[in-house]
Amino acid sequence: MSREISSERIEEAVAAALRVRENAYAPYSRFHVGAAIIDGDGGIHVGCNVENASYGLTNCAERAAVAAATSGGRRDIAVCVVVTQTSPPAAPCGACRQVLSECNPEMRILTTNPAREDTWYSLADLLPSAFGPASF
Ligand code: THU
Repeated sequence: MSREISSERIEEAVAAALRVRENAYAPYSRFHVGAAIIDGDGGIHVGCNVENASYGLTNCAERAAVAAATSGGRRDIAVCVVVTQTSPPAAPCGACRQVLSECNPEMRILTTNPAREDTWYSLADLLPSAFGPASF
């Protein structure tokens, strides 16, 4: 669990991710994903996956949530909640790990599913030796 973010706020973010997951546009994979980012002040920014008939244009839920947070003026992600339908819940793909890392390499990630099989990760667990702005 994040140091600064309350458990109540985390529960609100899980609820928001479950809700936004209902908006996923995933007619090809039928794999619906919802993400909710909590910024440093507890603000919640959501995203769902959006697929396309040209499959490679698909956008993941986590990156949609990063775009929403950025559009709202927030890059200071404390927690990213990701809800999938699988057991165990899926962890973010490599592309999303890299995009999340650019915001805050110290963030915590909570993967869960509607049955609430929660797993917490640090980004360093998921993306060790990350390439970032300090790498060049
Ligand atoms: N997907 C996400 O939204 N986030 C991930 O981290 C992994 C994959 C989506 C993309 C696609 O719409 C579906 O899940 C199946 O790959």
